[in-house]
Amino acid sequence: MSHPYPLIDSYDPETAAAMLAELERQETQVELIASENHTSPNVLEALGSVLTNKYAEGYPGRRYYGGCEHVDVVENLACERLCNLFKADHANVQPSSGSQANQAAMLALIEPGDTVLAMELNHGGHLSHGHPKNVSGMVYDFHSYGVDSESERIDYDQIASMVAELKPKLLLAGASAYPREIDFSRLSNIAKEFGASLMVDMAHIAGLVAAGLHPSPVPFADVVTMTTHKTLRGPRGGAIICTEEWKKKIDSAVFPGMQGGPLMHVIAGKSIAFKEAGEPSFVDYQKSVLANAQALAKELASLGYRLVSGGTDNHLMLVDLRGPEGPGITGRIAEDSLHAAGITVNKNLIPFDPEKPMQTSGIRIGTPAVTTRGFTEGDMRQVANWMDQVLRSPEDLDIQARVLSEVTSLCCSRPIYPSLVSA
Ligand SMILES: Cc1ncc(COP(=O)(O)O)c(C=O)c1O
Repeated sequence: MSHPYPLIDSYDPETAAAMLAELERQETQVELIASENHTSPNVLEALGSVLTNKYAEGYPGRRYYGGCEHVDVVENLACERLCNLFKADHANVQPSSGSQANQAAMLALIEPGDTVLAMELNHGGHLSHGHPKNVSGMVYDFHSYGVDSESERIDYDQIASMVAELKPKLLLAGASAYPREIDFSRLSNIAKEFGASLMVDMAHIAGLVAAGLHPSPVPFADVVTMTTHKTLRGPRGGAIICTEEWKKKIDSAVFPGMQGGPLMHVIAGKSIAFKEAGEPSFVDYQKSVLANAQALAKELASLGYRLVSGGTDNHLMLVDLRGPEGPGITGRIAEDSLHAAGITVNKNLIPFDPEKPMQTSGIRIGTPAVTTRGFTEGDMRQVANWMDQVLRSPEDLDIQARVLSEVTSLCCSRPIYPSLVSA
């Protein structure tokens, strides 16, 4: 077999070897990290293109550099497709990441020192939503809402009373680890009643929203941010959509507010991904993501695992490893033992978790990546059983070795990038 990256291999074999090993890791392991996906060969081609050479500070038609006529076409196409996909007034596709999209949105919507209400990190929120060590938490006065201790679902009444008391300038919705549908209409009513703007970070669910399988925040929010690489299955990056009213402020917050030259090769990849997300096959893909999440959740529950909030409405779930029938290990031990068996997950705090973030009582798992490579509901039941075997005996190396070999053979029957594997 020749090397899939032959030029790099002949010039820089150390880097090429790590790249090949990563390709093999992705091809042979069951990827259950809920925020990851396998982007298409079309998108990969864009990421390796000459567009990476071009400086294009500014926006199409008004750049600070010459020679932008072709990248202008690419950026205009990306914005048009993103607006069509989410029925939005305006799109900005330049943010290099989800965190930068969030920072730009806040720069546009509020002033330093303003009060913001967002979801608590330990209950499923994100670092860029006001963590004290993140720039958001340093610049703005963040307060957080959580989930109800019984239902483990967002407590909208708590949000309403906190908004009434704190009178935040901004209500920020969206999460990294919340397995239930979010009621954007209700959040918008709460924000409106007390004169707050509503920002929604739909990073995790953007693909489901694009496919019409999760209610869209777009009719309700002033500004919606997203990552392009999770359920949306594009290249690593961010994007913002907003109402006509916020268009100018958002654009100047992204550039020159937050960033210099946009990554034009990534914007080409985003544009291609947005086109793919508009195809009927993308809706089928997202339906399978949901069906696979249901199959995985039901099988785990039948094996004695407690799922936070009792299950999932979307592409991810949080597994509480404690409980009367659980394996009684930490998320860290679970992550390590599953890794040894070829199953990749991340340890995750669960609501009201007594453990530290580097230990945790839970793991977060999701189905976007395995669904991309064609895993079925039957495969998900098999995955749940493999997980159970490993988690019940996390120090048993024989079990890990047996599961690893079964995992490898299933994965090899569902290649992700056949043309790279057979190169
Ligand atoms: C809800 C949410 N917002 C923002 C981000 C940040 O995205 P990035 O890693 O591209 O900065 C994430 C990443 O996991 C996320 O889950």
